[in-house]
Amino acid sequence: MVKKNTCIFISGYGSNLKYLINNSRNENFPIKISLVVSNNKKAKGILHAKKNSIPYLIIDTKKRNFENIVLRELRKYKISLICLAGYMKIISKKFLNSYGKMIINIHPSLLPKFRGLNTFKRVLKSKEKKTGCTVHFVNEKLDGGIKIIQKSFFINKKDNEEIIKKKTQKLEHRAFSEAIIKIFRYN
Ligand code: GAR
Repeated sequence: MVKKNTCIFISGYGSNLKYLINNSRNENFPIKISLVVSNNKKAKGILHAKKNSIPYLIIDTKKRNFENIVLRELRKYKISLICLAGYMKIISKKFLNSYGKMIINIHPSLLPKFRGLNTFKRVLKSKEKKTGCTVHFVNEKLDGGIKIIQKSFFINKKDNEEIIKKKTQKLEHRAFSEAIIKIFRYN
């Protein structure tokens, strides 16, 4: 199998990145993680890239030409899939068009519910019965592209924000890889 060169964008802890790295070691998993991009130089997730000798790029999104720098690296590593794994910046329309290939994102809610930030707080406040995570294609609308996979669980009365976050992220770690397998199943 020829694995697709993939770039993972992160901003923080990088637990999704860690699971993707582990799964990508399987010869039947369709992607190779060739590059990690972080907009936060202090992101813990960078350690996973370092530990696994994966090239990484730290970007300063305040700089006017940062997108061109990223695009150049994506070309250099022949990237054909970008996974946003806790990347807390909006991908611009210009970047989407210039890159022109697949970008997917993981979001900690059952989209279209609870787009944007502070998801867990809002889920609890609105007394949802169920919550979960969604992996979807990225388009110009925030958390708005076509769904690839969704996983859910029932919320217990005793669940607080921290518990919901833990349960959601546990599902995310499976959902991201399953979504990637689904995308490339027939390729
Ligand atoms: C994940 O829960 C992901 O769904 C969320 O950030 C977390 C990153 O965790 N993303 C968003 O909220 C994007 N809107 P990680 O750094 O441990 O993978």
